[in-house]
Amino acid sequence: MSAQGERYDAGLVSDFEPGTVRRVKAGDRVVAVARIDDDFYAIGDVCSHENVSLSEGELDADECTLECAKHGSLFSLETGDALTLPALKAVPVYKVDRVDDSVWVVVG
Ligand code: FES
Repeated sequence: MSAQGERYDAGLVSDFEPGTVRRVKAGDRVVAVARIDDDFYAIGDVCSHENVSLSEGELDADECTLECAKHGSLFSLETGDALTLPALKAVPVYKVDRVDDSVWVVVG
């Protein structure tokens, strides 16, 4: 892996409606990629509380958070931190590169 990490194709900008989140495969990781206005965020898709997909949860564009659909923990899209119980641990955060019309998740 290079110092800049590996980039994985997350799709086209137009695949992401503003205010929505999608599950994307990035190698052996699964990542929740969210679009808020023209900004993209990527965090690990698996809730740190139980094995639940965060991309099934609800995005709060104003707070820049993703709410786990199962028990309602809020995760920061900027830091991955679990902001509310019952989850205690952060989920990973990934950089998102936007190149022309393409969206890339950078791992590592
Ligand atoms: S599974 Fe996500 S908060 Fe419980």
